[in-house]
Amino acid sequence: MKSDLSNYRKSYNKGYLSEEEIFDSPLELFNKWFNEVSSTCLDIEINAMTLSTIDKEGFPRSRVVLLKYFSEEGFTFFTNYNSNKAKSILNNNKVSLSFFWEKMERQILIKGESFKTSEVVSDNYFNSRPSGSKIGALVSSDQSSVIPSRSFLENKFKEIKKEFENSEICRPLNWGGFIVKPIEYEFWQGRENRLHDRIRYNNKNNKWIIERLSP
Ligand SMILES: Cc1cc2nc3c(=O)[nH]c(=O)nc-3n(C[C@H](O)[C@H](O)[C@H](O)COP(=O)(O)O)c2cc1C
Repeated sequence: MKSDLSNYRKSYNKGYLSEEEIFDSPLELFNKWFNEVSSTCLDIEINAMTLSTIDKEGFPRSRVVLLKYFSEEGFTFFTNYNSNKAKSILNNNKVSLSFFWEKMERQILIKGESFKTSEVVSDNYFNSRPSGSKIGALVSSDQSSVIPSRSFLENKFKEIKKEFENSEICRPLNWGGFIVKPIEYEFWQGRENRLHDRIRYNNKNNKWIIERLSP
């Protein structure tokens, strides 16, 4: 089979990014873009981001995770500490995050280092989850491992649900957060004729250096 996608082409004209409207802090610009997208695009999972890690063999691997908090401290997501991504991070904590908000023709790329969040942060978030998600975390105690079948998961879900019928589900120790501390951001706004706006913030000695990149 051969598919020809060479005619899939779109012109970008939803916005622009000029030096006059950006901030000294990339987090402020992230926050502005996030709020604009969240108020304009109501039907997308705006906090879905692609996390890329490097595995022990040196191969990159990317997958979507959900951003749960962002602040000057960094960008936090939650996962299973036995998963592929967690093993990769614990071996090499250099990661990238990327957001693609298609409806506004925007992309943000973040390069940074990732660290486990404190137990308190993980507990607080785990405790705020609906019970089905809590049980799901227990069911998938070895995320990314091979399992025999779908019914294996469903049976395990039923068993755990019954087991915790009258008691609270505590966070399993192999489940928790990672916080990504950015050292570089790139904000990309699609423009006409492929003359896209690309503004990069690079952290040098605790100061953000702002540069425009060729599209
Ligand atoms: C929209 C969306 C949101 C997701 N959110 C998370 C998440 O927050 N945490 C997580 O561990 N996996 C999440 N996943 C599943 C991951 O993409 C991935 O399949 C899983 O974490 C296993 O990845 P790994 O084997 O590379 O570690 C999400 C997937 C999608 C499509």
